Amino acid sequence: MADEFFTPTSPNKSCTARAFAKVNLHLAVGPARPDGFHELVTIFQSLDLADTVRITCAETESDSACTSDDSGLQESNRGYFVAHDSPIHDTFVQGLTVTGQDSESVPTDASNLAWQAVDAVAAALRAEHTKELTLPQVTIAINKNIPVAGGMAGGSADAAAALRAANALFSSYAGVAALDEQVMQKLAAQLGSDVPFCLHGHTALGQGRGEKLHAVPTTGVYHWALVANAQGLSTPHVFSAFDELSDGLRKTDPSPEETAALEAALQAGNTQQVAALLRNDLQATALQIRPDLRKVVQAGYQAGALAGIVSGSGPTCAFLCADEQAARQVAAEVEKKIAGTRGLIASSPAARAELVES
Ligand code: C5P
Repeated sequence: MADEFFTPTSPNKSCTARAFAKVNLHLAVGPARPDGFHELVTIFQSLDLADTVRITCAETESDSACTSDDSGLQESNRGYFVAHDSPIHDTFVQGLTVTGQDSESVPTDASNLAWQAVDAVAAALRAEHTKELTLPQVTIAINKNIPVAGGMAGGSADAAAALRAANALFSSYAGVAALDEQVMQKLAAQLGSDVPFCLHGHTALGQGRGEKLHAVPTTGVYHWALVANAQGLSTPHVFSAFDELSDGLRKTDPSPEETAALEAALQAGNTQQVAALLRNDLQATALQIRPDLRKVVQAGYQAGALAGIVSGSGPTCAFLCADEQAARQVAAEVEKKIAGTRGLIASSPAARAELVES
């Protein structure tokens, strides 16, 4: 698809992409591996709640084009920065801004995955073509709708959208073919465990640390009430607390029968069955760290949800509902009942990360 942006005579000055939030319909967590990550068996589904990422050439071509080699420190106006605590390295990103929901808590430096995604695309294009490839410095503008630190892959969605936008912008600017999907998936996996799924979208079975994906066919539309929380939860914290809690106990069986049953229910579009099969092994840990979430889950059931789970590592709670009206009611009732919560609705599955008109 990126070939349509191969326009060497009039390169794009700006590209925008959007990527969607996810919910884990099934999340079985195995033991920690030597690299610290946990072996997962998960079924991801994308929700139609999206962040957008716009990437813009920072200045005119002559001011900002960066053709240097990777040999060391260059002048800062040619795109070389000291990124937080890390060693001095090059970047094509001149600045990053964030607007929208919870934007004040999103980092605006090189620790932001969207920033790293842009540089990863630049490095991969230069590896595929030539190290001397002329690329512009860029600015990144993220607009957030996905709750931050909410267990819905908001940061990963931003990285996936940044991968798409940077691939289109840089390849158009340099007049070369864009990176193909296989390379994009590889870059996504290097950025984070949920980034490959955000790139992929729809519904998928994830294995490994979540990056090995197989598409799961589905029918129908699923309606969700999502209850976000004013106070986020740290994913590493939840995983390490999970280890402590389950220490000495037999770790969760990956349960192929369970995922097979869920896949069959999704393929049949049977919402009731999907609701009955929702599973999240991190939920008990999230509820232990944040006992207040028990009330949220309870309130969702009382308001008429078919089923409710903590989404991923939390604290957002996701309630599967019979239809959109029921979802609206659950979201409104829980928000009204429990201080510090925000109810919203979404439907699933949504698309992969994609370019949008800017
Ligand atoms: O891959 P990502 O950087 O998004 O993961 C964030 C953190 O979540 C990791 O540092 C790790 O603590 C935890 N994690 C894990 N096992 C996974 C995925 C994430 O332990 N499969």
